[in-house]
Amino acid sequence: MTSAGFDVDRIRKDFPFLSRELPGGRPLVYLDSGNSSQKPAQVIETMREHLALHYGNVGRAMHVLGSESTEAYEGARDKVAAFVGAPSRDEVIFTKNASEALNLVAHAFGPHLWRGAEGDPRFALGPGDEIVISEMEHHSNIVPWQLLAQRTGATLKWFGVTDEGRLDLSGDVITERTKIVSIAHQSNVLGTVNPVAEVLRLARAAGALVMLDASQSVPHHPVNVAELGVDFVAFTGHKMVGPSGIGVLWGRRELLEAMPPFLGGGEMIEAVWMDHSTYAPVPHKFEAGTPPIVEAIGLGAAVDYLTEIGMDAIEAHERSLTAYALDALREVPGLRLIGPDSLDLRGGTLSFTLEGIHPHDVGQILDDSFGVAVRVGHHCARPLHLRFGIPATTRASFYLYNTTGEIDALVRGLHHVQKVFA
Ligand SMILES: Cc1ncc(COP(=O)(O)O)c(C=O)c1O
Repeated sequence: MTSAGFDVDRIRKDFPFLSRELPGGRPLVYLDSGNSSQKPAQVIETMREHLALHYGNVGRAMHVLGSESTEAYEGARDKVAAFVGAPSRDEVIFTKNASEALNLVAHAFGPHLWRGAEGDPRFALGPGDEIVISEMEHHSNIVPWQLLAQRTGATLKWFGVTDEGRLDLSGDVITERTKIVSIAHQSNVLGTVNPVAEVLRLARAAGALVMLDASQSVPHHPVNVAELGVDFVAFTGHKMVGPSGIGVLWGRRELLEAMPPFLGGGEMIEAVWMDHSTYAPVPHKFEAGTPPIVEAIGLGAAVDYLTEIGMDAIEAHERSLTAYALDALREVPGLRLIGPDSLDLRGGTLSFTLEGIHPHDVGQILDDSFGVAVRVGHHCARPLHLRFGIPATTRASFYLYNTTGEIDALVRGLHHVQKVFA
């Protein structure tokens, strides 16, 4: 399929995994990019070449390889900053993944005034204070806040989810005691894109900070952190055609500067004495030890790749796939979609149940008989599944390399699953 300005056949040639076959000569249909995306040759080759020819430790090795690695690593930071519209490259912190970025921010809150008497009150959290999340969060945006609530005695609250799979903003969830609101930009189960401006308005009226878990939005839509107006944004390399082992925290500079370090170690310090230390300026204050060098450089290559194709074009392609899939899935008897049934404010992640058939059976038969890779289970969003009264769903998620033909293969597979269980 070729939509305006977007040649999916050409893009598919960039992805080596599409050239392999499954046992029996079946083609591979990968509809699990919401879990982790595949990588184009450009990313794989950039990482291979760096490891082979340019590798040294960053920020400390005084030789050619050290300089080349440092340049490439810091160059990746420039690319990521430009990709998400960060006002400053120093606001981009490399982490291991989105989970670590979320934990880093949660860690900054506490009763302790880490700078002594001048501790920043925006991060002071104790009994009576409130943390707000939502019922549609990935566990990575639930558990760090549960741990914070347990550590500080603060109260964890959450927005509910409507039957249609939208954030339920009714009720007074955010109050004047709310210190931080952290929600998904796009749900990894429902596909719902959340109304960030509205959440921001409520949070700002209460004087609370706002964090976005953009793990499922940055890979699929143009995202500009400055325009969003929030305080922190987390995302992860492996879902955006980059490698695993690298994630990103973007934060407003003055907030990052006010926050305590997360992990201690080499390169995050300015000076160390036996009884205390002073810390490096951001972003290095948050990058203790040898960082994921080649992974960050791979993420830089991923960002180059996505930028060259254009995030608008990728978004439009996925939108047409989603429209096609919504129509096709409606025709499957007994299929219940969990999440918005219209294209309005949703991305290309479709989770569903098939009446009378366990999602694990659906996934297994799709894989064994049709080479269709989907994800089954609760997708690290157990509370959301409990909300809908189901233990698990089957999830198909699309990316720039997918085609309508692959959605047809999914639908053929689902009909076959139903025949097997008839
Ligand atoms: C919405 C959302 N948040 C956070 C994560 C966690 O990402 P990572 O495992 O890379 O930390 C995921 C991964 O599935 C996700 O979908």
